[in-house]
Amino acid sequence: MEKLILNGKLIGREQASIDIEDRGYQFGDGIYEVIRVYGGRLFANEAHLRRLYSSAEKLSLDIPYTAQELTEQIEALVRGNGLDTGIVYLQFTRGAAHRKHSFPEKSETVFVAYTNELERPLHQLEHGIQAVLTEDIRWLRCDIKSLNLLGNVLAKQKAAENGCGEAVQHRGEIVTEGSSSNVFIVKNGELITHPLSNLILNGITRQVILDICEKQQLPVREETFTIRQLFDADEAFISSTTSEVMPVVQINDQKIGSGKPGAVTRKLQGYFKERMDQLTKAITTGPAE
Ligand code: PDD
Repeated sequence: MEKLILNGKLIGREQASIDIEDRGYQFGDGIYEVIRVYGGRLFANEAHLRRLYSSAEKLSLDIPYTAQELTEQIEALVRGNGLDTGIVYLQFTRGAAHRKHSFPEKSETVFVAYTNELERPLHQLEHGIQAVLTEDIRWLRCDIKSLNLLGNVLAKQKAAENGCGEAVQHRGEIVTEGSSSNVFIVKNGELITHPLSNLILNGITRQVILDICEKQQLPVREETFTIRQLFDADEAFISSTTSEVMPVVQINDQKIGSGKPGAVTRKLQGYFKERMDQLTKAITTGPAE
């Protein structure tokens, strides 16, 4: 039977139940993380947990586990479900209380985690995806990975209705991020991506890419760029836990660059794959723990 974690306990999925007055359900009062699993191993787990605690702090939400405890629980879940390639979804809500907007005097954090099998999107990584542009209508705390995702849902729905893989959002002239990804452009060999602020999520894949660029001495600017710069770019790609370094070859009706995944994007994909391989190789060659 498929397992999940409910408040620290590994149980069968059918045994789990959530109160209908859970604040996550009624107000979206909670946070989440999506962590990639390659070869049964958690990718960039520490960075995800750092962001989780940071989101929790910004919402005064209590996480009653240490990073070490959470890691052990998640690893047990991945093992229990025999997951090789997929994701772990973690969610923390402010718990159940009679419905009132302000924080309840007494409620206990509800923690749920489950796994899903999910293959790497190899075809799209090879050929790229198309995207649509859409106005960023979300609230002004996009740095918090909160359960309130309606703006993101509507943007992704627009992409789906247009046969596209992602919606690239903009506030006025400035491109912010995708509906569930960060956005990079490449111009004259230089990468540009929106700087960290309240207007974007501090993507873990974005962090990995910036780290790769530093190690490989690839020039990057964390600066805002406009819709015009996006259309004039040599290359564009999005980054996320599930889509990795994903080339964007067309936006609306316009090709980006040559209309094929660009050389810098390809190079980054190669370095990213090396990081994945290091993780899975550690199973056989890593030191005993
Ligand atoms: N989404 N920006 C937004 C709005 C996102 O929802 C995500 C991730 C990212 C990329 O972050 P990361 O590299 O840490 O995955 C950027 C996840 C995958 C999701 O909601 O499913």
